[in-house]
Amino acid sequence: MRSRIIGTGSYLPERVITNFDLEKMVDTSDEWIRERTGIRERRVASEEEVASDLAHEASVKALQMAGLSPKDIDLIIVATVSGDMPLPSTACILQHKLDATKAAAFDINAACSGFIYALAVADAFIKSGIYRNILVVGTEVLSRFTDWQDRTTCVLLGDGAGAVVLTPSNNEYGVLSIKIFADGSMWDLLHIPAGGSKMPASEETVKNRLHFIKMRGNETFKVAVRTLEKLVIETLKENGVKSSELALLIPHQANMRIISATAKRLGLSLDRVMLNLDKYGNTSAASIPIALDEAARQGKIKEGDYILLEAFGGGLTWGAALIRW
Ligand code: COA
Repeated sequence: MRSRIIGTGSYLPERVITNFDLEKMVDTSDEWIRERTGIRERRVASEEEVASDLAHEASVKALQMAGLSPKDIDLIIVATVSGDMPLPSTACILQHKLDATKAAAFDINAACSGFIYALAVADAFIKSGIYRNILVVGTEVLSRFTDWQDRTTCVLLGDGAGAVVLTPSNNEYGVLSIKIFADGSMWDLLHIPAGGSKMPASEETVKNRLHFIKMRGNETFKVAVRTLEKLVIETLKENGVKSSELALLIPHQANMRIISATAKRLGLSLDRVMLNLDKYGNTSAASIPIALDEAARQGKIKEGDYILLEAFGGGLTWGAALIRW
């Protein structure tokens, strides 16, 4: 038994912040951001929009493509680090907004690898026969956790959501393999210091800007390149698939230089790599399902194609999924 993606959807907030807008906010330049990251602009949620709203928009489109109603869904998994609130889960709020009354619901926090982690859990539930129809969503409103005075992070991040519907496959197509990994010894490369049990919110934490995302970018960059190069090569090898057989690589959209290094290691030209980080920046757990939805709707993947998803993020966490579409 395999699981198969039968619907995809995505939603990006309307408001655009360009690199030129950022030039007016921090000491940076469009040229620096484009050369170091590949990002030109990013989306930012309106004041009224929260993570479950973005997730809802993406989920409705994914369910439409799948031809299912919310009542058909057995389980909702939401990957996010910027959920509506610490308690309850954003998945429960989404369940209510969709009126998916039959579905169990929970969140996963694996930072930028969150979607691959959530997909792995959904795949295991389907393979075990416990659930049939599972909605997997990556949604982020990172703009609320972004320090707009910190040029080392604010140029990188964006808001958005992507969703997929998984169901048991009735043929040899579907998710062929998913591997997820973690190394908690490097937790402090990418984190939000305050707001949890370690450092609860106080006047001091607010004053010291400790509720915002902190990243040691250069170190994260080096570990990401090394880890992802090894990961993609091993994933293909273990499944007996050659990189020449890959129709599309769909990487987490963090940095163009990380993506290029991974593609080069696989011997793939960039026309076989799904890219949208120029428009959206790094949307963490949302980036892969957004890119997958755009690839599907733009006709970049067709039935029977091999596609490889890969991500790396805070935790540290990383993972890859090989799919026969
Ligand atoms: N504009 C202008 N200059 C900036 C800047 C900005 N937005 N951000 C940082 N700089 C400066 C730094 O202060 C530093 O200046 P210094 O040499 O005077 O100290 C210089 O640029 C180089 O900084 P460094 O951090 O070494 O640059 P980098 O080449 O590593 O690029 C990132 C920075 C963040 C783009 C890069 O490290 C990166 O993409 N890292 C991975 C991020 C990521 O993907 N994280 C999520 C994992 S999913």
